[in-house]
Amino acid sequence: MRLEGKVAIITGAGMGMGREASVVFASEGAKVVVFDLNGEAAAETAAQVESAGGEALVVVGDVSKEADVQRAVAEGVARFGKLDVLYANAGVLWKDRDKSVIETTEANWDIVQAINLKGPFFLTKHGIPELRKAGGGSIILVGSISALAGFELAQDSYTCAKASLIGLAKSLAVQFGPDNIRCNIIHPGMVDTPLQAPYLTEEKKRNIGASLPMRRLGHPRDIANAALFLASEESAWMTGAEMIVDGGFIAT
Ligand SMILES: NC(=O)c1ccc[n+]([C@@H]2O[C@H](COP(=O)([O-])OP(=O)(O)OC[C@H]3O[C@@H](n4cnc5c(N)ncnc54)[C@H](O)[C@@H]3O)[C@@H](O)[C@H]2O)c1
Repeated sequence: MRLEGKVAIITGAGMGMGREASVVFASEGAKVVVFDLNGEAAAETAAQVESAGGEALVVVGDVSKEADVQRAVAEGVARFGKLDVLYANAGVLWKDRDKSVIETTEANWDIVQAINLKGPFFLTKHGIPELRKAGGGSIILVGSISALAGFELAQDSYTCAKASLIGLAKSLAVQFGPDNIRCNIIHPGMVDTPLQAPYLTEEKKRNIGASLPMRRLGHPRDIANAALFLASEESAWMTGAEMIVDGGFIAT
């Protein structure tokens, strides 16, 4: 029970890594605020949390809308009494709309930034005061290997949003360390989730997996386990750090 007594809010908890983390966190003792745009998916996550013996509160909303995020924080605190962990997981990868700068429209650039970068801004803006009241806490941001290397098939707005989160992680780490609040960022490699599903056939998955040092794509559990470590007291002296969880992609 590595998160016994802790309360976590996880954005984008309806599917993929966010759902996996919700279940893993709950099975380690945390109460979880399951925040997602998709109410049905969020309800299914909450059901999985409950069958793992945990407690979940579903909040439906959009991370790019400040009022929604503020409401999620308030409802989480009202239900569970406090917040200890802010996991800014929600993100979108829209390869059909977000491309190279020479092909992307301003509107598409902006919406990708609004979800991937402004979302974490709103969560930390409204969540940090609650972590302070709780005597400290852990903030987990989600970057990407796309922020660490260039790719010929570019999603430039996504890349820039994720790269900006590296700066945010370090800034929050320095500002709020004295309040016993830590902030770290996980950079996932290619993980088999609904986010990647539109772009990956089974054959592509096998080929990409085979090209990695660890010879497979990531499973959402690989990232949830990293997040569990960052959420728990085991990482108590770790802040402002980047954790690459990518099967070795960046090392090649
Ligand atoms: N899957 C990968 O290969 C990969 C690689 C690197 C980074 N990431 C990042 O990891 C994080 C999780 O990705 P995933 O693969 O689990 O994604 P996913 O698409 O499988 O799940 C994302 C969840 O976020 C929700 N969501 C989307 N937009 C939202 C919004 N505006 N407000 C609230 N909820 C919203 C969706 O409904 C969904 O439930 C994202 O930040 C993503 O950019 C993923």
